Amino acid sequence: MTANTPKLPIYLDYQATTPLDSRVLDKMMPFFTEHFGNPHSAEHRFGWQTEAAVNVARGQAANVIGADDDEIIFTSGATESNNIAIKGGAFALAGKKKHVITVKTEHECVLASFNSLERLGFTVTYLDVDNEGLIHLSELENAITENTSLVSVMAVNNEIGVIQDLKAIGDICKKHEVLFHTDAAQGFGKIPLDVNEMNIDLVSISGHKIYGPKGIGALYIRKGVQVIPLFDGGGQEQGIRSGTLAPALCVGLGAASQIAKEEMEKDADYLAILSKSLLENIKLNNIRLNGSVDHRIPGNLNLTFEGVKSDLLIAELKNIAISSGSACSSAKQKSSYVLEAIGLSKEEVDASIRIGFGRMTTEAEIEYTAEYITETVRKLS
Ligand SMILES: Cc1ncc(COP(=O)(O)O)c(C=O)c1O
Repeated sequence: MTANTPKLPIYLDYQATTPLDSRVLDKMMPFFTEHFGNPHSAEHRFGWQTEAAVNVARGQAANVIGADDDEIIFTSGATESNNIAIKGGAFALAGKKKHVITVKTEHECVLASFNSLERLGFTVTYLDVDNEGLIHLSELENAITENTSLVSVMAVNNEIGVIQDLKAIGDICKKHEVLFHTDAAQGFGKIPLDVNEMNIDLVSISGHKIYGPKGIGALYIRKGVQVIPLFDGGGQEQGIRSGTLAPALCVGLGAASQIAKEEMEKDADYLAILSKSLLENIKLNNIRLNGSVDHRIPGNLNLTFEGVKSDLLIAELKNIAISSGSACSSAKQKSSYVLEAIGLSKEEVDASIRIGFGRMTTEAEIEYTAEYITETVRKLS
């Protein structure tokens, strides 16, 4: 191993979650202590103070996607945002239309929301993806009928980092007057997104994927789009998401959004360098990159090492924290339906790992990782 070994273990699971940026924590801290007011207390200064901070954060999140401030509601995370957008959006139009469309490679919380709709009598089309992980626009357009109310296609896949063509999808949805929702948990703040340019009606956002805190997310709802709330309460967040907001978390999401917007290009350029370095320095022949080469975020590499079982490899690679797929499916020890959907055989799926890196990853860590993976795979093959 090289002389300048970085501090171990090295965190390389940035699609599962990202470390909190210390600049974000600094902004959050006062809202745990001195500014503790309930942002919904309308009659005194304590409430006004936190309400103002929450609204600044709302604007910071809105600004990343070209939305208006009042089109953003706070939630507990992208799981909740996806549930509200998909079920709430479909329920609002259920009197007229009961067909909805999504993709086989969506996050589990999206697929589970559509499964729920099916149980409630909706018809769901699950679109295939090609070997690169991309949907075919003609298949989407063919699937839309007079009865279709909503289409949900994720911005960036959490396992293979593939970016869907949201602008083209948005154009199709607009043409057919169908709501377009995107789960942007892995794309918000990482790739340019503009809800107006791309004709997106609903966007799900997560704090902890953009160096913000866990337990906070947001949902963009285009003005005029109806969404039925999933639970009842005090009517906060325009009646769509009742419950007392957590100002510290909102402030964290806002600060993380602002930094993500300001540093999007810098982050992407840096991650592209790390990605190239990692791929070049893994000196193995039996390796394959999964997902589109051209349409992908730079902070993700999903690799197949033919003939090497990923569970054994991950167990052996104790000095780096990586996973074999998404955090939730690996928790349930299921094999990856995303890799199956892009055409990998069962053996290939079981020989694949996901490496995720980000703003805090260093070049030394990537160099170490490349060498470490090379040695370990050679040992196991
Ligand atoms: C694509 C995608 N959607 C949704 C989620 C769920 O996000 P959250 O943890 O904020 O509920 C995740 C996180 O794992 C994700 O990667």
